[in-house]
Amino acid sequence: TLMNQLLGFKDDEKRLAALLGIDHCLIVNGDADQSSRVLDEMGKVLDQTLQAVLPAGRLTIAVMGGTTMARMAAQLSYKLSSGRELTFVPARGGVGERIAIQANSVAAAMAEATDSAHRVLYVPENVSAQTYQPLLKEPAVQEVLQMIDNAQVVIHSIGDALVMAKRRSMSPATVHQLVEHQAVSETFGTFFNQAGEVIYKIPRIGLQIPDLDHIPYVFAVAGGQSKAAAIRAYMHNAPHHTWLITDAGAANSILTGA
Ligand code: G3H
Repeated sequence: TLMNQLLGFKDDEKRLAALLGIDHCLIVNGDADQSSRVLDEMGKVLDQTLQAVLPAGRLTIAVMGGTTMARMAAQLSYKLSSGRELTFVPARGGVGERIAIQANSVAAAMAEATDSAHRVLYVPENVSAQTYQPLLKEPAVQEVLQMIDNAQVVIHSIGDALVMAKRRSMSPATVHQLVEHQAVSETFGTFFNQAGEVIYKIPRIGLQIPDLDHIPYVFAVAGGQSKAAAIRAYMHNAPHHTWLITDAGAANSILTGA
């Protein structure tokens, strides 16, 4: 029956949360690898969950980039900003990816979808440290970095290590290092192996994983069976209060492969 199906789903969500060592998992039907529409369902669940759990009042929401995050933006609704004054900020600068999936663009798209404000972080990270370091002293940049520091909400995705390394045109030496140490996951510019050990960290500005401990609302969004290993590896490092929004493709692979 439908009721049993729903209860079975709830049960899987509980088992997945326990296995990953986090408080909340939400699983939508399907597999994003098979149909990208599954991502839209995840986006709807993200929107509903944000509406249900975020407090009223003024909130800063720091967001990461990526194709998943860009897709989430399209599902957020103006209802999210009812009773709330939201400002979306990119959790970090540009990392040399397509404009549409950069954190700055995701923040702008989420602000547009929810009829809210956003800020832009004008710091390219795919340049030398000598180039971006002085930018960090700029008042406009300082202000946004301060907002990132004080964000109450973070929304991010989780990437496959080698897919991300390629997409960001990382050096052959770094890719070699990732392969050598069997990196499977990337989140916030940090690469992990299956055990959750840090293999490599892109020197960067903005939000870092330890910062998440001080942020009350953390949402990780990643789906598709191909992301199962990446999700599992990152979750060794995720704060307990993380909400994972995923799909059955990833969830079943994690649950059966455990
Ligand atoms: O850090 C993780 C990536 O931003 C995930 O990117 O959603 O395109 O797989 P993706």
